[in-house]
Amino acid sequence: MQNTDKKTGIIYEDLPKIQNLLKSGQLQICIVGIGRIGLPTALSFANSNLPTTGVDVNENLVSMIKSQNFPLKDEPGYLEIFNNVIKNKRFSVTTKIEEAIPQANVVLLSLPTPVDENKNPNYSALESVGKQLHNLMTKGTLVIVESTVEPGYIENTFVKFLEGNDGRLIAGKDFGLGVCPETANPGEILKDFKSLPRLAGALDDKDANIIIEIYKHVFPVEIVKMPDCKTANVAKLTTNVFRYINIAFVNELAILCEKLDIDIMKVLEAADMKYNFQVHYPGPGVGGPCLPVNSVQILHSAKLLGKNLLRMVSLSQEINEGMASHVLDLVAESLKSVGKKLNESTVLILGVSYKPNVKDVQITPAEPVIKKLQEIGTKIKIYDPYFKATSIFNINVENDLSEAISNIDAIILITAHDEFKHIDPTFLGSKSKSLIVIDTRGIIDIRAARKAGLIIRGIGRGGK
Ligand SMILES: NC(=O)c1ccc[n+]([C@@H]2O[C@H](COP(=O)([O-])OP(=O)(O)OC[C@H]3O[C@@H](n4cnc5c(N)ncnc54)[C@H](O)[C@@H]3O)[C@@H](O)[C@H]2O)c1
Repeated sequence: MQNTDKKTGIIYEDLPKIQNLLKSGQLQICIVGIGRIGLPTALSFANSNLPTTGVDVNENLVSMIKSQNFPLKDEPGYLEIFNNVIKNKRFSVTTKIEEAIPQANVVLLSLPTPVDENKNPNYSALESVGKQLHNLMTKGTLVIVESTVEPGYIENTFVKFLEGNDGRLIAGKDFGLGVCPETANPGEILKDFKSLPRLAGALDDKDANIIIEIYKHVFPVEIVKMPDCKTANVAKLTTNVFRYINIAFVNELAILCEKLDIDIMKVLEAADMKYNFQVHYPGPGVGGPCLPVNSVQILHSAKLLGKNLLRMVSLSQEINEGMASHVLDLVAESLKSVGKKLNESTVLILGVSYKPNVKDVQITPAEPVIKKLQEIGTKIKIYDPYFKATSIFNINVENDLSEAISNIDAIILITAHDEFKHIDPTFLGSKSKSLIVIDTRGIIDIRAARKAGLIIRGIGRGGK
């Protein structure tokens, strides 16, 4: 193990030394939090010939990786990298942070930053690990936060956990601190790591330069120097909050289209021909660990400043969270048209992931829809190819689509998995009479569905 002048010098300040360590494959990397984003990140560092240790509190995850079982089967390209870095011993994992941190030159944090039940950002994982780092890291360590946080959190709060109260570690003197917010899209992380520019900000300029040097070694993309951590963090939040607000707009536009009896898909297709329009699509709600959470984070930072700012984001929350009720209205109205009641019906939920083609139910829009149906007393079946043989929201997921479509009154399609995009409407209606289909993603051909005898509705799908 390389013992990099820990006593005499601050390695993160020494660019030529860092360059040498990168070139000779001796810069010791530790990544705390090896989940959806942290594990691919760790593998990319290890695959760039840097000795990398992943630390996680999840014992099952760590023992799964130790037994060479790759947990992210839905991330194309990473299984091969995983096998490769395990074979050449560039990557190891542990639950023991106290063993990994003292060895590390660079510590990356890819810890969860969710929202709590009161809709406030929950930074408890960063707080807990930050306090541990104070006791464990040696002088000269560079800490890089990849987790998404609101502006000011690093400079005003997190740095204090690292410095502690004993005067041993001072930021900018005894350790470096910066951010490189993660922007990759689950399901295409490797592709994004090879194409999306990264934003690097730090407490001071020299730290930012070192972060850029390290990331350039690993990622073949532009690493953009930001003036500070908070600019980098606001830029990261802006991309997702922009989408969140635009989805809220099209969600309400969709409801207007239904009232006008026109099809929002025709509207969006036509609008998208204008060069300065960016298309967004309506849906049953906005899920995942990013868009809804980032909206809370940016609102929280406005609140801390005591400003009544970003009211548009609050309104977007209200609109997007209201879409589950709209979905229920669509299914209840359609059932009524064939003389059935929602509380006496059996509804199949197609897809529970918050986005297509991944196994992930974080803040999924399926959950509020299912909860509302449960409150009403509707019988619920679930089919999702990524959750076969598991139980989600206390409901056993069907193993076979053909079984799942038997003896049901309605289908609510929540997730646009590829498997559902090519579904034959005739097949859907083959095992249930007067079947209602609520396609919340606009992926089923409405005309073909009607021809097949289905009663189909979709968000914003009025008209011919
Ligand atoms: N998933 C995404 O789409 C995505 C995209 C961009 C950015 N991000 C951001 O990246 C960060 C990580 O997100 P994720 O989706 O990878 O989360 P995740 O929940 O998949 O992974 C986080 C990991 O951290 C571990 N962990 C929690 N507390 C810990 C502790 N005290 N010590 C060690 N390990 C601990 C968990 O066990 C888990 O394995 C978040 O800030 C998120 O907002 C996520």
